[in-house]
Amino acid sequence: MKVIVCNTYDELSMEAAKIMAATIKEKPDGVLGLATGSTPIGMYDNLIEMYKKGELDFGNIKTFNLDEYYPLSADNDQSYHYFMNKQLFSQINVKEENIHILDGLAENPEKECEDFEKLIDENGGIDIQVLGIGQNGHIGFNEPDEKLYANTHLTDLTENTIKANSRFFEKESDVPTKALTMGMGTILKSKKIIILANGKAKHKVVSELVQPMITTNNPATFLNAHADVTLICDKEAFEG
Ligand code: PGA
Repeated sequence: MKVIVCNTYDELSMEAAKIMAATIKEKPDGVLGLATGSTPIGMYDNLIEMYKKGELDFGNIKTFNLDEYYPLSADNDQSYHYFMNKQLFSQINVKEENIHILDGLAENPEKECEDFEKLIDENGGIDIQVLGIGQNGHIGFNEPDEKLYANTHLTDLTENTIKANSRFFEKESDVPTKALTMGMGTILKSKKIIILANGKAKHKVVSELVQPMITTNNPATFLNAHADVTLICDKEAFEG
């Protein structure tokens, strides 16, 4: 795993945006795997800036998002549909038909997950996947457990994740207890992966991630089995 340690969040956000921008320029009809959470917001801001300056064109880019709460409607302001639209899609020229986010109200979640998985393959696979990392090591909503799942699936959120994400909701009991998420195999099939982490709260899981080992107790460590992963973190996440 390649590791880039930055002094500040702004630096981390620019490093991540530069890698994304290079992929978009190299393959203007490429497939981006995108993530929500607070960490990638600075990276999205930089990509928007590059687009506004005419340096980037998203006209033929396709996107697939990692996950979505279940059940939650796309127009709920806590949904990841809403987040992506606000933080990125409404500010660049990506075509609506090229945006793919799991449907948090799917009547048949199993079929929704299967279709999503097929669609990624039909589009040639993900060229670059952006990941955040949960305080418990989750990537997407692949939570620490005895078993992890390979394909896109419906999953229960852990207490830790519900607590961490409750900061965005009015009260903890409003946080959905389930989510649809890409599986570990879906993520690991991506050709290139960048994983972003900032702040002391991520130090424990980041220090495990940079060890040459894999454990289902920290799902992000599975990235050690992938040939092209770059961890971009700040000093606090790296050093504690
Ligand atoms: P965060 O979330 O970027 O808001 O810290 C990361 C995650 O839970 O994957």
